[in-house]
Amino acid sequence: MIQVHDKQFDVFIDQETLEKRIAALAGQMNQDYQGQRPLLIAVLNGSFLFVAELMKNITIDCEITFIRVSSYEGTGTTGKVKQILGLSEEIKGRDVIIIEDIVDTGHTMAELLGQITAQKPRSIEIATMLHKPEATRIPVTLKYVGFAIENKFVLGYGLDYDGLGRNLPCIYQLAEV
Ligand code: IMP
Repeated sequence: MIQVHDKQFDVFIDQETLEKRIAALAGQMNQDYQGQRPLLIAVLNGSFLFVAELMKNITIDCEITFIRVSSYEGTGTTGKVKQILGLSEEIKGRDVIIIEDIVDTGHTMAELLGQITAQKPRSIEIATMLHKPEATRIPVTLKYVGFAIENKFVLGYGLDYDGLGRNLPCIYQLAEV
């Protein structure tokens, strides 16, 4: 059990299990993208450890770039709008894989998918380390999923709780009290 800010967390997925699964996802990508040169678009901050482990196990030619997603209040009826920051690569005609730490409600991913698809990639798929199927509000097709987990708060391996915990080498889950 560890304490981060005011909350306690238990180990949920240990490092070995996590990294074996990430290597398996990379293996699938090696097969699926044989002879191609996919462009991995990793969503900061949370995906940095996941994508690093993934890249170490990808043996085909591939490229990587990093984006951030900023949220701001729209002035019209749209409410919250998410904007992609930092995407300077030419997307048209590329085989894109979006890399996320976790897909929760699906809002972020649906928005990203829409904006990147508008730039006319040849193909676009999603890889996420974790998925909370019960939390889904907007369904998105997730081709590569590390672990489907229950709808509980998790941290570690890139994921934070109020800025802390990203450096933890495995995934922790909020402890039952
Ligand atoms: P969505 O738009 O609801 O799918 O949320 C996606 C983002 O919320 C992720 O990229 C995370 O930054 C954050 N998030 C969702 N669930 C968790 C969690 O359990 N722990 C830490 N961050 C989370």
